[in-house]
Amino acid sequence: MEIVRTVAELRARLARESAVSCVPTMGNIHDGHLRLVDLAGGQAPFVVTTIFVNRLQFGQGEDFDRYPRTFEDDCRKLEGAGCKLVFHPDEGEMYPEPQVFAVDPPPVANKLEGRFRPGHFRGVATVVLKLINIVQPQIAVFGKKDYQQIHIVRHMVDQLALPVRIVAAETFRADDGLALSSRNRYLTDAERAEAPRLHQALSQVRVAVEGGDRNFEALEFAADALLARHGWHVDYVVVRSRRTLMQPEADERDLVVLGAARLGNTRLIDNLEISAP
Ligand code: PAJ
Repeated sequence: MEIVRTVAELRARLARESAVSCVPTMGNIHDGHLRLVDLAGGQAPFVVTTIFVNRLQFGQGEDFDRYPRTFEDDCRKLEGAGCKLVFHPDEGEMYPEPQVFAVDPPPVANKLEGRFRPGHFRGVATVVLKLINIVQPQIAVFGKKDYQQIHIVRHMVDQLALPVRIVAAETFRADDGLALSSRNRYLTDAERAEAPRLHQALSQVRVAVEGGDRNFEALEFAADALLARHGWHVDYVVVRSRRTLMQPEADERDLVVLGAARLGNTRLIDNLEISAP
């Protein structure tokens, strides 16, 4: 597996490849990321994984400084999963001068995660656009774990006519239901044992809605109360339209329940797609 750190070197190297897929990450690679690499390889065999902890998408007081950086371990795992090249620029390479041009995302970027992380999706959209321009892949793979992120990326690619196809990967979970995440490593043992309850609370909403219950507010409230009873600080648990991520229309069936909640110092997010009857 090759490791490349500069844009110029990457461009020169990729000029020889005709079918490139890209998996953008911030590193601290886990099995969820490796699923994306596997999926990417099935679509376009030369898989480029990018590892870059993007300062632009972290707010004040968030975990940019302590975000786990485990480059050597990451490379071992990625090589084992069939990744062909890792692009690992440093900040000076990605942002040689302050990034004053940025993607201004639509209002949905200020809801849900955006309400609790102002500016987050502006930073995500900007770096994703830049990475797509640098790698110029035919395919880019993103996880449904970050449901609002892939929604915004798809919309951006569409509206800006970027010549790349976005592929969505299902959320990869531990056996107890917890969605894998680099942030899980912040959890204490006791918190790790409690963490699957977020998935359970969302599952409870899904079961009810799939059983015909459309009293979303009551279901959201019950999920919120369940988590609060077990010591979580809930930012939101909401049922949304899969198409718009806004409140569902009365007859809308393709739904998603999204949740974000804090356990101690760690903020976890998760979601489940729902097909209402
Ligand atoms: P990161 O959190 O490293 O995630 C990289 C990709 O892996 C994202 O598309 C994310 O949705 C996906 N992913 C993470 N955990 C997953 C899981 N358990 N199952 C399936 N997919 C999972 O998301 C980012 O980085 C950044 O915002 C980035 C897009 C790289 C821009 O900086």
